[in-house]
Amino acid sequence: MKSTISYILLLFFISLLLMQCRPSSDRKSEIDPLERKIDSVLARMGLEEKIGQTAQRRVLSLENDLIIEETREAVRKGEVGSFLNVMNTDMMDELQRIAVEESHSGVPLLFGRDVIHGFRTVFPIPLGLAATWDPGLVEESAAIAAQEATTNGIRWTFAPMIDISRDARWGRIAESPGEDPYLASLMAGAYVKGFQGENLSSRTSIAACAKHYAGYGAAEGGRDYNSAIIYEQLLRDIYLAPFKAAKDAGVSTFMISFNDLNGVPASGNRLLLKTILRDEWDFDGFVVSDWESITEMIDHGFCTDERDAADKAANAGVDMEMVGRSYENHLGELIQEGRFSESQLDNMVRNILRIKFRLGLFENPYVDRSRDKVVLSDTHLATARKSAIQSLVLLKNKNNLLPLSDGLKKVAVIGPMADAPYEQLGTWSFDGDRKDTRTPLHAIREHLGKEKVLYTPGLAFSRDRSMVGYSQAVSVAKQADVILFFGGEEAILSGEAHSRADISLPGVQEDLIRELKKTGTPVVTVIMAGRPITVNDIIDDIDALMMAWHPGTMGGPAIADVLFGEAEPGGRLPVTWPCVVGQIPIYYNHPNTGRPPLNETFIPIEEIPIGVGQSSLGNTSHYLDAGYLPHFPFGYGLTYTTFDYRNLKLSDTLITLKDTLRVSVTVSNTGSREGTEVVQLYVRDHVGDIVRPVRELKGFQRVFLQPGEKKKICFVLHTDDLAFHNQDMEHVTEPGIFSVWTGRNAHEGLEGSFTIDNDIK
Ligand code: BGC
Repeated sequence: MKSTISYILLLFFISLLLMQCRPSSDRKSEIDPLERKIDSVLARMGLEEKIGQTAQRRVLSLENDLIIEETREAVRKGEVGSFLNVMNTDMMDELQRIAVEESHSGVPLLFGRDVIHGFRTVFPIPLGLAATWDPGLVEESAAIAAQEATTNGIRWTFAPMIDISRDARWGRIAESPGEDPYLASLMAGAYVKGFQGENLSSRTSIAACAKHYAGYGAAEGGRDYNSAIIYEQLLRDIYLAPFKAAKDAGVSTFMISFNDLNGVPASGNRLLLKTILRDEWDFDGFVVSDWESITEMIDHGFCTDERDAADKAANAGVDMEMVGRSYENHLGELIQEGRFSESQLDNMVRNILRIKFRLGLFENPYVDRSRDKVVLSDTHLATARKSAIQSLVLLKNKNNLLPLSDGLKKVAVIGPMADAPYEQLGTWSFDGDRKDTRTPLHAIREHLGKEKVLYTPGLAFSRDRSMVGYSQAVSVAKQADVILFFGGEEAILSGEAHSRADISLPGVQEDLIRELKKTGTPVVTVIMAGRPITVNDIIDDIDALMMAWHPGTMGGPAIADVLFGEAEPGGRLPVTWPCVVGQIPIYYNHPNTGRPPLNETFIPIEEIPIGVGQSSLGNTSHYLDAGYLPHFPFGYGLTYTTFDYRNLKLSDTLITLKDTLRVSVTVSNTGSREGTEVVQLYVRDHVGDIVRPVRELKGFQRVFLQPGEKKKICFVLHTDDLAFHNQDMEHVTEPGIFSVWTGRNAHEGLEGSFTIDNDIK
């Protein structure tokens, strides 16, 4: 009897073991009907067609018949799995027809495009959308972008871009959600939900792509494509957090980044692609390279040639190659030589087919022509206006100059960005049209009546160094009650490969502002730019300063709404704003150092005495000529009313790791206007196995209050929210003492403290 039982047990364990040894795809297909479908398609594909699925091509020119014929032939032979940037819907359907009807496997093509912050209706650049601190609104904007893009046959966007960036020199900070992992993670989830909708197969949904995986925003010196050096704990706690959030929200695809991360180009990075993405996170969508990023591993000095690059990328886990042809040219031969196996290729193709099935492309491969081209509808424009309003960050408002009264007799509108319809759309707005764009000049004229608005650009464009427009600008300024100066940077000064080493207002904009100030007329400056702009040298000449980012199609009306008080400035900074470029990288969630600057008074460099001892100025971590504080902290943004914080209460001051902490504070509107406060919750873990940041954002709420109204705001903090990666790379919350703040930005707030002690009964 005993031996029979042991025999049965042995058989049971052997079968369990065998189950474990079988590829997970086999196990999946036994249980999941989708996996069975994928397998049946895979079974009818030859090696060439499988390789074809991994290829994403672009169509160079639709006018060129030869290219069109070559492209048709390639699709017929199953050599292409996806196209990017095909925008002619007839051409799309024709290529799709060939794929579905004439290619051997009949697998539909997937058409992708960069739909980054809107399609025809352009929303503020993603950094501006992050400044809304409103994930719901961001989700709405992404859903609108998806609705508009799908009418054009696009079923895959290369967004959201969720690279944490601590460096305003980096041109792509414009596309990013800013510096904070918590805010960026919420934004990441919102974009994914908005683009993909409830159901990816809905004809208004598009597959999202979390990019650029990973560390791209840490490009050294802010120079695009540069190496990123990030220790693994920091990588996991800060840079990967939004990617994990995107994965958890069900993102369909990931795009690998151009940079090398700690010496290994992302396109061949096994830690990122295998260990983290597949093994730890169990991601089952597909990974696309960035534009030729696989073959660029040769330039990185990581691969000898195209074949080696294909080998390293495929073995690391990049499923689809964008534009480059290394997979197409070499995967077959690598399989023959045994450097790569057909079953590995099968898994790449499975990942791609899985998303094509989820998109419903096998059932509905063609452009949806049943819907009207719903672009730029009233609702879409209203949401664009609302999101632009909420992205506007008021940075200075001397003597409550803003909001302006409608009773002003004359307003001078000056500056290179006042009427720059293309520029205000910002980087990555391929499908926005300047003709649809409403500029501040138009909106202000509409609001006040043309006769009250005196307009002269002063400078033809932001970098214009000619002073021919000065005298006209000064003369207009003298006749007005207020000057509205619209400055900043054109769209081309931020975005990919467009980093700047000097991030002040380009050209002679500062000089012009100084000239205008001399007239005695108050100066309101609105900056439109893809990054924080240093204003240290000009801030005293500006009475009110508002950051408008590149605000998109409805930027003009949104700005007018806020300037004239029909709406309040709703934005808060999603990045720390430096005083001078040399402070960069500057970010609020930095470690303390062993010699932190303790509210030390900063001595201007000219006043530093000569001939005194080295340590007489205090040996702390700061710049002699720029102190240590930013111009405006993370989370900062003024309102048209005032708020008061009282009664910070913690549900307990001593908790265990199993407990949850409730933090509450009473916020009142103490001003005379209604207004929205973004109540922020920060914590500090005082001692850690790895040094911990001086503050970390752990929650926020947008709270609307009437004058005199007060509300108790409650946050729930789980001890898991305090976890970080320790020296052994374990994700842990450590017992100890924590500070907690509720306040308006990362430098203010009411402070409390609590202790986590696991030994209490
Ligand atoms: C960018 C990606 C973009 C791709 C396709 C690349 O140069 O880095 O963000 O999605 O081009 O346009």
